[in-house]
Amino acid sequence: MNDARGNPVGTSSQAALAHAEIAQWRMCSFFDVPLADLEAASAEDPQWMLPHVLRAGFLLSLTEPALLPDARAALEQADLRAAHAPPRERAHLAAASRCAAGDWHGACALWEQILLEHPRDIAALQWAHLFDFYRGDARNLRGRVARVLPEWLRDDPLHPYLLGMLAFGLEECNQYAQAEDVGRQACARAAKVPWATHAVAHVMEMQGRHEDGRRWLNDTRAVWAEGNGFAGHHWWHLGLFHLEAMDLPGALALYDEHQGGAHAVLTLQRLDGAALLWRLQLLGADPGGRWADLALGWDLGPRDAGHSAFNDAHALLVLLGLHDRARAETLLGAALRVAERGGDANAGMAREVGVPLMRGLLAFDAGDMAEAIRLLLPLRETAHHFGGSHAQRDLIELTLLAACAAPRGERRLGRALLNERMLARGRTPMIDHWRVRLRA
Ligand SMILES: [Fe+2]
Repeated sequence: MNDARGNPVGTSSQAALAHAEIAQWRMCSFFDVPLADLEAASAEDPQWMLPHVLRAGFLLSLTEPALLPDARAALEQADLRAAHAPPRERAHLAAASRCAAGDWHGACALWEQILLEHPRDIAALQWAHLFDFYRGDARNLRGRVARVLPEWLRDDPLHPYLLGMLAFGLEECNQYAQAEDVGRQACARAAKVPWATHAVAHVMEMQGRHEDGRRWLNDTRAVWAEGNGFAGHHWWHLGLFHLEAMDLPGALALYDEHQGGAHAVLTLQRLDGAALLWRLQLLGADPGGRWADLALGWDLGPRDAGHSAFNDAHALLVLLGLHDRARAETLLGAALRVAERGGDANAGMAREVGVPLMRGLLAFDAGDMAEAIRLLLPLRETAHHFGGSHAQRDLIELTLLAACAAPRGERRLGRALLNERMLARGRTPMIDHWRVRLRA
């Protein structure tokens, strides 16, 4: 049998396939999670391998260390069923296994091989796209989607999700006009595509269009705000537009209503919260007890360190927000050990970006602005190697501006950085805020 896009599948059960199709739609739309659908697929056809690989891939794509054992168990279940699986599904097992072993680069290479043979394999594309994001590979965020898109029928129900991916890839390659156009095309379809509303928000963020951004996200709430795993990140983007307008109370209110407390369950959600509180603090707001609230249930110690350098740097922000330098130093030590010993993708990212960033943040927190600037300034050229988006990594630039504006900072450097920032963003209230602080 083939799935709806013509890819061979290792089941002859229409019912099992129907459940797996819903699961794959959930993965690219972020509406609910696909686990119950995959269990239903396995119940219909217990010998089918693919649902187990899809489960593993979904869990891995959350970059949550606590979910790794579950992902590995699913891969073991898949392996037990591999003998009778078609080559495409066995290739998926190989790719997800590499991913589980921490070889994110190797996993993306294997997903690309699948896509060469099966350009309409949505799981291979979705996971490669997400891990291109986690690896900071902007060229492939754009190129990998572009390489398969013409092989899809425009009326395929999943086609709008590819447009969403392409829009985000274009945005991360600084092709803002094209990104916005493609993102709006995806949003004009009947399907709800939060990845596309998000891509357009990114364009507006990078261009300093905070009023457009607020309007866009408020007007598209029906797409992303309810029952969607990507909602928290959209709220974070809305918070950024409030910050660009220097509406700090508005950003805090959004945080309280949609990001803090019970809204932050996964590290991916918590790190957005940490990033927003850190930015608020840089701009002069006092997050108060929100840091402690955000820390609840988040392992900020050495246990989880080393899985994602990007996540570790955000965990450090929380410890600095809590004024817990002892635990912050412990976390840095753990990240450093992994960076020095490990040979996986994350170890390289930690060596190149994560560890110097954490050291720079610690120096900034200690008021050693010369050391903070010495450590953070070179990261402007390399920070994309540890993943995330331009908007997320802008936290480094904002910390640099604050370091430059602080007593014993470097005003001339700060003004130069701000001049560059104005190229894309123009004059915004936040730009004016930094101009005043750097003139003081
Ligand atoms: Fe984003």
